Amino acid sequence: MTPTIPGTVAVIGAGTIGASWAAYYLSRGFRVAASDPAEGAEDRLRAHVDAFWPTLAALGAEAVGGDAGAPHDSLAFAPSIAEAARGADFVQENGPERLELKRAILAEIEEGAGAEVLIASSSSGLLVSEAQQGMRHPERLVLGHPFNPPHLIPLVEVLGGAQTALESVDRALAFYTGIGKKPIRINREVPGHVANRLQDALWREMFHLVSTGVASVADIDTAIAYGPGLRWALLGPFLTMHAGGGDGGITHFLEHLGPAMREWAADLGEYPETDDYIATMAAGVAAELEGRDWGAVLAERDRLLLGLLAAKAQAPQIP
Ligand SMILES: NC(=O)c1ccc[n+]([C@@H]2O[C@H](COP(=O)([O-])OP(=O)(O)OC[C@H]3O[C@@H](n4cnc5c(N)ncnc54)[C@H](O)[C@@H]3O)[C@@H](O)[C@H]2O)c1
Repeated sequence: MTPTIPGTVAVIGAGTIGASWAAYYLSRGFRVAASDPAEGAEDRLRAHVDAFWPTLAALGAEAVGGDAGAPHDSLAFAPSIAEAARGADFVQENGPERLELKRAILAEIEEGAGAEVLIASSSSGLLVSEAQQGMRHPERLVLGHPFNPPHLIPLVEVLGGAQTALESVDRALAFYTGIGKKPIRINREVPGHVANRLQDALWREMFHLVSTGVASVADIDTAIAYGPGLRWALLGPFLTMHAGGGDGGITHFLEHLGPAMREWAADLGEYPETDDYIATMAAGVAAELEGRDWGAVLAERDRLLLGLLAAKAQAPQIP
């Protein structure tokens, strides 16, 4: 089958996140025009795309690469950012997480990209409202924040800054949905976006529980990985709560257990104020991993994750 090529994505910055995005876009049939000033960046990018390809093939990319593997003919490495952005239909920006550098990169992207072309920044923490200051067409800058690695994890967080057009956010959401991602709309800029804030709430409490001797690192991993984490991965925390309320759903759950949960919430710990906690957490992780091959653990995790993604794709009632 000849794949239809839906267009070109400029991938600006080809480090950890850019390389993974590039592989994903190639797997969805796009041409990719990449740019990264680092010495040897093109070779590293092509090697990463090859390394990610078996996973992408397992997710259904064979039609694009065929037996020959990753479609390197569809991957161009441009000598400048403006050159990569020229003629692109969508720009995914993945440069270093420094405001001044992001602004400089955005200015170079605008030199090449058409005025209508959406620019999505992968930034983990910078505010779009700040990054877009000084842009010629700030209305087309959105956040398109992936979870590492973007070629495997479906979530993309989308939001606009003060000068972003609402239509640009809508277009970005439609674009990511159309390429098989699970984008969410964030209505207002907050530090850490949404998913990392949710993780932070858990991280804060697990450091507190370990530091105060309530439970070990290994037991906390077991508590999540063999407890709520299993359900969270299928339904998310709200629908899990709704299921926990039986026939009365979330309303009954909160009426019944809400008062106790309010008391527990008042007792939760604070994020550690100094770095003293790090050694304790690292020792706990070392103890948990004793006798295990970490590389093999990660390989098994990825294999199971692929199976879970495939299984969820076959379960249309799962949101
Ligand atoms: N690593 C993560 O887990 C993660 C997750 C989500 C989002 N992000 C975000 O993705 C972006 C990239 O992060 P990363 O982890 O890939 O970092 P990285 O250091 O691996 O990659 C950054 C790349 O940018 C390149 N670069 C430097 N100057 C440049 C320029 N002027 N123009 C273009 N490219 C330039 C570097 O050579 C490097 O290859 C950041 O904004 C980060 O916040 C990272």
